[in-house]
Order: sequence, then structure tokens, then C-alpha cells
Amino acid sequence: MAKNGMQVDRWATRFGLVMAMAGNAVGLGNFLRFPGTAAPYGGAFMVPYFIALLFLGIPLMWIEWTIGRHGGGYGHGSTPGMFHRLWKHPVSKYLGVFGVLLPAMIGLYYVYIESWALGYAWKTISGEYWGHESRDQMKEIFSQYRGLENPGLFSFGLESYLFFLITFGINMFVFARGIQRGIEMVCKYAMPALLILGAILAVRVLTLPPVEGRTVSDGLAAVWVIDWSVLKNSDVWLAATGQIFFTLSLGFGMIHTYASYLSRSEDLTLNGLAATSTNELVEVVIGGTIALPAAVIFFGPSITKEIAAGGSFEIGFYSLPVIFQKLPFGQFFGTIWFVALFLAGLTSSVAMFTPLLLFLQDELGIERRRIVITLGVIIFILMQPIVLFMHKGIIWELDYWAGTFFLVLFAAIEAVVFAWIFGMDKGWKEMHAGADFQVPRIFYPIMKFVTPTYIIALLVWSSIEVWNTKIATVDQNPYLWFARGLIVVSGLVLCLGIWHAWRTRPHLFDEVEKGPEL
Ligand code: ALA
Repeated sequence: MAKNGMQVDRWATRFGLVMAMAGNAVGLGNFLRFPGTAAPYGGAFMVPYFIALLFLGIPLMWIEWTIGRHGGGYGHGSTPGMFHRLWKHPVSKYLGVFGVLLPAMIGLYYVYIESWALGYAWKTISGEYWGHESRDQMKEIFSQYRGLENPGLFSFGLESYLFFLITFGINMFVFARGIQRGIEMVCKYAMPALLILGAILAVRVLTLPPVEGRTVSDGLAAVWVIDWSVLKNSDVWLAATGQIFFTLSLGFGMIHTYASYLSRSEDLTLNGLAATSTNELVEVVIGGTIALPAAVIFFGPSITKEIAAGGSFEIGFYSLPVIFQKLPFGQFFGTIWFVALFLAGLTSSVAMFTPLLLFLQDELGIERRRIVITLGVIIFILMQPIVLFMHKGIIWELDYWAGTFFLVLFAAIEAVVFAWIFGMDKGWKEMHAGADFQVPRIFYPIMKFVTPTYIIALLVWSSIEVWNTKIATVDQNPYLWFARGLIVVSGLVLCLGIWHAWRTRPHLFDEVEKGPEL
């Protein structure tokens, strides 16, 4: 990104950029959240899923790349500064706070979940759980692993804590090395490795012999055969659209930050599409071919729905391990599954604290090394309640607000600011600067009318649900209030930081000569 006229860090290659952006999107959401969310609805899930991808996912992806590259041209690596450049209104920078707050809040629990994949890769290589061939046994092992069996005050499991420390260390190491030497370097190798591992697993599932008369076609039918009557259920629309947000990292603020490292002469339309397609390849083709079909073949369609209803971890952490134990070379395939899961998680989590780092560096002028060390300590401290009070549900409350509802709110804000305040004409022109691919003109009205309307409708719908389930019924659990308090206090502290930056360093926000010409 250009900072005070100097290039401080950049993407080294186009391949590295696309792999990093795809890695940002490909994550636990593709392998765990997707099968868990899709299974209850069968193939009907894919209808609202693809509609949301076309009218919301792809346009928003281009919008986020454009906002990011545009803001980066003025030296802003995070959304407060980027929004300020889109809309000269005192409130715009505060709206950008979500793009710094949300990924950091998500990162606090995401890294812990990612560490389970690493822990289970080890458990599978070492054959630790081999011989526990029922789902109930595997469920107990998973609970013990996280210290959820008889937790007492803390849900502490020594093994899981150890893998959490290792995962945290790896994340901080990559984070500290920056864009080119850290994130790009890791994604350049991890993403192709992930694609190969995913393909091996997909081939394994597609060549499975029938189990009790259930064939691969039955397994694939669970993902692809559409029962149109399911579409009358509004939940499937909400679930599929929410999945598009999470899986493509939309509304997080992380895509903007990665795009801020592009110069205006570098393409974003084709690269954005390539990164989105890679995510969808991993989610629909690879992710959709592994977990769900395998579960249907081994357990049957109705038990698979029951499994999925148990949450996103049921398939990945205790149903698939049962299947691996029944397969020849199961230890090998099981290890591949958990390593792939870990790599997917890592390539996303390394993006999560980057907007905060750049906010502190660009807008508050704090020296990078100091930020990395201080942030490392603060993040580590804030992760402790999530790990130690896992049994109290802090993690789910954070996921509900930061990982679901606020993503939609932030995406609604950015879609309106981009298409209506910055203006679609300027936005379209900015998006096509340096473009290697002319976006079909039909996306102009889609981005101007359909995408904002779609997100606002979703926001209203989600708000009604939030009101009914979270606000109208006041929860007495203090741990949930801790999670909500953490989000609110962190948001306020960041707003204070924004206020301070704009007050004390006005020259950074007024200077225009480096900006792109429109
Ligand atoms: N997009 C990331 C995922 O799918 C956050 O996990």
C-alpha cells in the first residue's frame, strides 16, 4: 500500500494475490459451516445459495475490492479511512469501524476452532481415538478434548490448550511478517496444498462402495436434488444468504484491507472473480462432495440431517472420524481432512487482525513492531475467556453478533455508501481502472438497485429475528453479556481511536494529490 508516497508492502505476484484473497475467503466456513447449514434443507439450499452468490456475493466482492483499492490509493488500509474517502461526511469514518472491529472479534474465537483441526490432525496421525467407532464415543472425546466434560469453573483441556498455543503462535508469526513475506508466502503454498488435499478426499468419497445399499449417488443427491417445497420456508433463504456472507468473508473488512495493497493500474475485476470462484470451487465442489455425501452414505439421509442439526462441528469432528475408522487407510484420509481444515482456517485467520494492525499503523501512526507485540498480548488475553469459558457459550454469542448479524449490517452500509453516495457511475469507473475484464453491463443496475435492496431486506429480516430471539427475551447469563460487552466496549475504543486520529492528524485525511483521478 502506498503510504506517504512510499511503498511499504505489496503483493509480489498476481498468483500470490489471488491465492491470498481466495485463502481469506476459503476457511472453516467452507468445510464445517457449509455442510452443517445446507444439510437440513437438502438440495433446495443451493437455489437461494446461488441466487445470493449472483446478486449479492459477486457484486459485493467487487464493491469491497474497489473500496479497498481506492482507499489504499490514499494510504488507508482499513475501512474508517476508506469510507472517509468515499463519503466526505463526519459520520462516514465511524461507519467504517465495523471493518476493523468485526474481523478482530471473529478472530478471537476463530483461531481457537482452527486449533481443534490441528489437534485432531495430530490425534488422527497418532491413532489416539482409533477404536472409538460410534458417534457417541467420538462426541465424548471431542467434549473431553475441549474440557467440556465436567468443566468446573473452567473448560480446560491440556491437549487442546497446547494446540491452541501452537496455532496462536503460527498465526502471530505470519501476521508479524506482513503481507508479502507472511500472508502471501503462506497462501501461495497452503492454498494449492488445500486444493490437492480436498481433491484427494473428494475422489475418495466419490469412489466409496455402497454401504447398506446407499451409494455415492444417494450421497450426492443430498446436496443436489431439489425439493422445491422447501423453498417456501423462509429459514432456508436466510441460512443460504448468511452462508454467502461468511464464506466469502463479505462484510468483514478483510477483503478491503487486502485490496488496499493494489495499485490503481492493477486489475480487480478478474482477480476478484478468480478469488470468488476458487472459494466456490472449494465450498460447493470439494466441500459439498466430502462431508455431506460421506455422512449420507454411512449413516443415511435422515440421520445426516439429525447430525447437521447438532451444529457445524458434529459432521467434521465426530461423524467423519467415525467414517475414517471404517475406511481402509482411514488414518491417512482422516489426517488429510484435518490438515486441510487447518490450512483453510489459517489462510483466513491471518487476515483477521490485519485491518486492526493497519488502522493503528496508518491512522494513528504507531510503529508496526510495537503494534504487533502489543496486539499479540492483548489478543492473547482476550482469547482466554473464550477458551476457558467455552462451556458458557461466549464463543456462540460472539459468532451470533460479530460473525452473523453485524456482517449483514456492515455490508448494507457499504453497498449503500458505494452505490448511492460515492455514486454508481464513479464506482463503476473506479472498479474498471486497470481492469483485465469488462464486467457485463447488467451488473451496473444489479449493484445499484438489486444488491442494496437485497441486503437491506435481509437486514430487516435478521433484525426481526434478533429482536425476537435476543432482545425481547433478556438473557440472564452473565457470560453472554460479557461477549456483548466486549463487542460494544471494543467498538467504542475504536471509535475513540478514529476520533483521535482525525483530530490529531488531519493532514492525512485532507491531502488529495495522491488520490486516484475520477
Ligand atoms: N470466509 C471465511 C470462512 O469461510 C471466514 O471461514
